[in-house]
Amino acid sequence: MRAFCKASAPGKAILFGEHFVVYGEPAIAVALNIRVKVTAYKSQSKFIEGFRTALVNKAIDAALKTVNSEDKNVHVKIESDLPVSVGLGSSAATASAIIAAVTGLFGVKLSKDELFNMALECEKTVHVNPSGIDPAVTVNGGAVLYQRGVGIKPVKLGEDFTLIIGNTGEGRSTGAMVEKVRIFAERRRDVMDGLRKTYSSTVLRALEALEKGDFEELGLLMNVNHGLLEALGVSNFKLNKLVYASREAGALGAKLTGGGGGGCMIALASKERLKSIAEVIMRAGGEPIIAPISKVGVVYEG
Ligand code: PMV
Repeated sequence: MRAFCKASAPGKAILFGEHFVVYGEPAIAVALNIRVKVTAYKSQSKFIEGFRTALVNKAIDAALKTVNSEDKNVHVKIESDLPVSVGLGSSAATASAIIAAVTGLFGVKLSKDELFNMALECEKTVHVNPSGIDPAVTVNGGAVLYQRGVGIKPVKLGEDFTLIIGNTGEGRSTGAMVEKVRIFAERRRDVMDGLRKTYSSTVLRALEALEKGDFEELGLLMNVNHGLLEALGVSNFKLNKLVYASREAGALGAKLTGGGGGGCMIALASKERLKSIAEVIMRAGGEPIIAPISKVGVVYEG
């Protein structure tokens, strides 16, 4: 066993496909350079510094089980720059960083697939039916296309970009929003089929735009995706306020990101406009975060 092991994992924003991904549609997410850092130390007893949640315990136990250690005494320190429960993937990032640090402490380096599967299991403590998009992007970094049952495909970006995140500050439960959409879809299968069809064309075009670095087109398609999410009933007044304020201030596109019903929105803008859009989001009552994309996923830091 080493004396300590450090690992970190990025948060994420869903660019296209929240909720639709639960129904088997492909989604695109990007890793953000806002990270959860975990240090695991050799210790005399089990000790958690930072958050103590069911997910944290599950991640530590899963890591210890993987390394088959008799000695279960580890000190796990969690430091996070990610706001929690706002759709920026803090659960998956926390679980992956813990699993990497604790297994690393025992000299074991897991593959990306192993990390993904273990982090996905941990996410089930937070909501019952996670699609897997959060662990997919946090483990791999960059931009990924993710489809349930099909897997993860890295997306080659034509050009790097920075997102402006607007946090409404309103907490919400992803599970409750997923359930809301389930009821919507069950009662109106034909309407849901139509929305899915439009979404499916939108995400294909978005993939092309990302690969070409065509941000005008990408922004427009983000607006379409926001409209579809509104139709599903997962946006709200505060999210719309931040979305429309950003568009008015010259964003190329803006949409809610994550489960909706609160949480965060994202805006895409040219480099020159990043700051002014962040200010507009603040004036509209949101907390702005300027977040470049992280090319790397889970990394061992020492
Ligand atoms: O955890 P959040 O808020 O980023 O939302 C996840 C996206 C959903 O599609 C709503 C749920 C899922 O499991 O993919």
